[in-house]
Amino acid sequence: MTVGIDKIGFFTSNYYLDMTDLANARGEDPNKYLIGIGQQQQAVIPPTQDVVTMAANAAEKILTESDKHDIDMVIFGTETGIDNSKSAAIYVQSLLGISSRARSFEIKQACYGGTAGVQMAADHIAMHPESKVLVLAADIARYGIGTPGEVTQGGGAIAMLLSANPSILALDNQSTFHSENIMDFWRPFYKREAIVDGHYSTNIYIDFFNQTFKDYCQKYHRNLNDFAAIAYHLPFTKMGLKALRTVITEDAHSQQLLKEFDASKRYNALVGNLYTGSLYLSLLSLLANSTDLKAGDRIGLFSYGSGAQGEFYSGTISDGMHADKMADEFESVIADRVRLSVSEYEKMYADGLPTTGGDVTFDSANDPSRFIVLGRQADQLVYKDQKG
Ligand code: CAA
Repeated sequence: MTVGIDKIGFFTSNYYLDMTDLANARGEDPNKYLIGIGQQQQAVIPPTQDVVTMAANAAEKILTESDKHDIDMVIFGTETGIDNSKSAAIYVQSLLGISSRARSFEIKQACYGGTAGVQMAADHIAMHPESKVLVLAADIARYGIGTPGEVTQGGGAIAMLLSANPSILALDNQSTFHSENIMDFWRPFYKREAIVDGHYSTNIYIDFFNQTFKDYCQKYHRNLNDFAAIAYHLPFTKMGLKALRTVITEDAHSQQLLKEFDASKRYNALVGNLYTGSLYLSLLSLLANSTDLKAGDRIGLFSYGSGAQGEFYSGTISDGMHADKMADEFESVIADRVRLSVSEYEKMYADGLPTTGGDVTFDSANDPSRFIVLGRQADQLVYKDQKG
């Protein structure tokens, strides 16, 4: 029996900002953003979407009624929580009609939360092979108007169904991890934006990649040639490239890894950072866009969550993986996005639930998504299923 990812769904909002427009507005050379950072567009999240609705919108695309019955665990990784107590997982479970005979909870360690969910799900299924686990990874990346981090914002959700004998990626059950108490990026309770030591964070990311990759190769007697591709957490696409460059050479296999990296960054360059979901959007991009990968190929995955936790693990592509279907699903999410001007983006950025409390109702006329946030009444978030 193998255990791993059986289905992957993706969602982001129907608004985006073009990085050339942003560069022009901030007095930067567009090539700094397009090449130096490696981002072309960035999702802009309206107040009618939060991590609950984005995750529900991602999951409803992949779940059948039978999946909803069989799921016995819902794990939500996020660093954009909607409540200090109640988990986002419970809301999604209820919106989607997933069986209530399930454990349902949220986990947090910056961008690592999705991977923590995947590993916990895999362990659970190894013990209970009939079980299915829904792992959700959703975030809204905010650094602030005019900050160096602004070009690395974005947002969206990944939903993954893990099961025995998966159709997409069978996990190898081989993993190495490293954690240290580091202040490279964090978000105090009183802030909607992250505080980040940008250049320090990129150096720590690379250190953690090198540490966990070296440990993995030593522990499992493998080397770079054992991987057909490596997928990275991509806060911005140049970040993964910087890490990959530290382990490749000039040989043909290294050139192939660079080619696969190009496939793995394509979707992230259009959506921006979605923190917990970024590694898994990159995996989706790799599988959908690679022209060479085939069943049985081993893929390395590097997960990084500031603060900081790193993990390198691997899986092999399953027979049932259909690249065209995955590409079509991604295209259908971003096909009709509306391009915002910089001033429209700045206005939407300032909108949202007041942090001081109080009732609010959002204008939902322009959000065609199935699940939306209507607002807040009597200190309770109000969600709506527009199909319901
Ligand atoms: N043409 C082409 N390239 C250009 C250019 C031009 N005209 N002008 C500049 N560049 C290049 C620079 O040479 C540089 O390339 P290298 O990094 O390869 O040297 C690149 O563009 C960026 O330039 P700067 O370093 O000057 O950019 P900056 O100081 O304005 O900010 C940043 C960059 C630090 C990444 C900033 O965007 C930031 O703080 N982002 C948020 C933090 C982040 O994402 N950290 C990642 C690791 S932490 C993590 O992974 C967790 C998470 O999700 C946040």
